[in-house]
Amino acid sequence: MLRAMIAAVVLLAATTAMAQDYPAKPVVIVVPAAAGGPTDTLTRVLAASMTEPLKQQILIENMGGAGGTIAINKVAKARPDGYTLLLYHVGMATSPALYRKLPYDTLNDFDYIGQVADIPMTLIAKKATPAANFAEFLAYAKANKDKLTYANAGVGSASFLCGLLFMSTIQTNFTMVPYKGTAPAMNDLVGGQVDFMCDQTANTVPQIRSGNVRVYGATTKTRLASLPDVPTLDELGLKDFELVVWNGLYAPKGVQKPVLQKLVQALQSAVQAPAFRTRLAELGAEPVPPSKATPESLAQMLKSEVEKWTPIIRKSGVYAD
Ligand code: MLT
Repeated sequence: MLRAMIAAVVLLAATTAMAQDYPAKPVVIVVPAAAGGPTDTLTRVLAASMTEPLKQQILIENMGGAGGTIAINKVAKARPDGYTLLLYHVGMATSPALYRKLPYDTLNDFDYIGQVADIPMTLIAKKATPAANFAEFLAYAKANKDKLTYANAGVGSASFLCGLLFMSTIQTNFTMVPYKGTAPAMNDLVGGQVDFMCDQTANTVPQIRSGNVRVYGATTKTRLASLPDVPTLDELGLKDFELVVWNGLYAPKGVQKPVLQKLVQALQSAVQAPAFRTRLAELGAEPVPPSKATPESLAQMLKSEVEKWTPIIRKSGVYAD
């Protein structure tokens, strides 16, 4: 009995010491998408802003594929010591409905750190598309529906969801071409190998501004400050068409409270950092207010989004496995 008590005290002392020293080595954020895409870009901007408050280097590990579930599972199974984190978006909420056999429990295998930023999307097409505006694009797309290809980051990704929503709204299906992220998809779109895509502004604004792609509409209810001349799909007649990609920061379940608190504080400081806010504005993205950069807000968002997307996906009959 005495030996067990001593062991417990020693263990407590050790873990408390570890929490005090945290972070004593670089922290890794796993990104369930290819490097260079919108989620990777957001994570790198966040990492740059969290490094100062955490006083530690933050490394990014990209792991695209299977709608992000491979990377999500890696973090679910990682040691809950605060050194392995996950940044992912709405895809976290869609995989429970899309994958019949998920190797993790979306709502119970993670500790929440907080929301990070919201990123609108735009409908874009390759430069050679013979359509000067949305109305012409819609007519052209419907007339060539068996030929046109829709690029996306795989079942469950934001670009996949936007495609699903767009196709069911215009009652026309196109061939889906999956990639490990929208960075490689964008390369092929700019190269003319695929025809159109709906992707996050963090990836599309630079290509739109440099004239490498055509843009037909934004997925927000009001026009984007970053693209004031681009009409919304809602104002173009796709009533109430809205998809803004929310993003959250997670850890494996079981992280010590003091460590989690340090991560929440670092996130809070990062989303308020002028450099973070300026860079996101350039990318057409919206940093969350500090009130949303909290575990409670992310937990609530994830739960409500799982409840929102599950019936939509079930109705679509789409399964990824
Ligand atoms: C990416 O970073 O590649 C995107 O988030 C993929 C997607 O979900 O569309």
